[in-house]
Amino acid sequence: MMAKTIGIGVTGGIAAYKIVDLVSRLKKDGLDVVVIMTEGAAKFVTPLTFKTISGREVLTDLWQESQEFKVQHIGVAEQLDLLVIAPATANFIAKMAYGIADDLLSTIVLANTVSVLVVPAMNSNMYRNTAVQRNLTILNEYGYRVMKPESGMLACGVTGPGRLPELDDIYDEIQQMLYPKKDLAGKRLMVNAGTTCEDIDPVRFIANRSSGKMGFCIAEEASARGAEVVLVNGRCQLEPPAGVNVVPVWSADEMCEVMRKYQPACDVIIGSAAVGDFKVATVETHKRKKPDDKSEKWVLELVGNPDILQELGKHKTGRQVIVGFAAETENIVENARKKIETKNLDFIVANDVTQEGAGFETDTNIVTLITRDGEVKPLPKMSKREVAAAIIDKVVEIL
Ligand code: C5P
Repeated sequence: MMAKTIGIGVTGGIAAYKIVDLVSRLKKDGLDVVVIMTEGAAKFVTPLTFKTISGREVLTDLWQESQEFKVQHIGVAEQLDLLVIAPATANFIAKMAYGIADDLLSTIVLANTVSVLVVPAMNSNMYRNTAVQRNLTILNEYGYRVMKPESGMLACGVTGPGRLPELDDIYDEIQQMLYPKKDLAGKRLMVNAGTTCEDIDPVRFIANRSSGKMGFCIAEEASARGAEVVLVNGRCQLEPPAGVNVVPVWSADEMCEVMRKYQPACDVIIGSAAVGDFKVATVETHKRKKPDDKSEKWVLELVGNPDILQELGKHKTGRQVIVGFAAETENIVENARKKIETKNLDFIVANDVTQEGAGFETDTNIVTLITRDGEVKPLPKMSKREVAAAIIDKVVEIL
């Protein structure tokens, strides 16, 4: 197996000296470590130190000629399996949050497509500052993993949060990100996503605001953890995750039919799609013309759609795990329990859609997992990918 390549971006904080030990440890594991330093970082530790420990040229300058790559920042980014920013200063965190690319490391951050671990370290007041906290939230929303600094005596003499976390903890986090769990290996998982569409006539249809992000994140997470994934995709504009079998559908009836077809082969089914509850009773065969008389009314008659999860619940086999979502505005737990019963589910992912940062069209979600046996587990505001990981953790527990 080829050694994995890990990029260590060091920015200008006193904790930079501790990262030398981290690099040494990763090297001992046989990893290929590329150290990229900002100008500030090089004031604390010399590039020569990192070069000696990593056994590779340390990269510091956006404009330096590269022997190895045609375009250095792109070439470096393409090599990486993981990018770690440690220590991450307030300034660098702000640059990452706003997509500023004015030096080599910040340019690599933008060109990078693999997972990112951010390890902030700074003075307590700076860390608590609203701007810094807001920027860290933005990084979370991008799907970056952001570690919490430790509290303790800081180099500036202040005691409080801001210390670089223990190297052991950073090292463990890196291991988890480099070698993700494969706890769904050999399992088949089906998830639906996005909105269903109900035709009115050949050009018009009824849909809803669901972006499909949550379902796509579940598909991505399950696939990363080894599952064979079928993503039954209502109308959404997202790039399908690599390695996932995508089945596009249009209406709720079609989605139901497809999912019933795949159901017998599945170990896990997750219903994250916003299935339209109604469809048009009679779909017009020709496009209805605009009336000459504006006061002319067009009354649509709607009839109920199948409840897809309920249908699947009826045909659930003993070992199948079925998970539903519930967008609620009140009595979350009580309503979730009812749905678990009527749809024959193992658990519900409930979110209060009135909360900021939850529900449709956002990158984050605030959910509570409610299981059949009565466990109620509220989770903090997280990126949808992190929510997906928490859902899969629960699925694995039940399997
Ligand atoms: O009953 P309610 O719409 O609140 O339930 C939401 C859950 O049921 C979601 O998981 C959704 O995907 C699923 N559902 C469905 N078919 C419907 C309506 C909702 O599968 N017609």
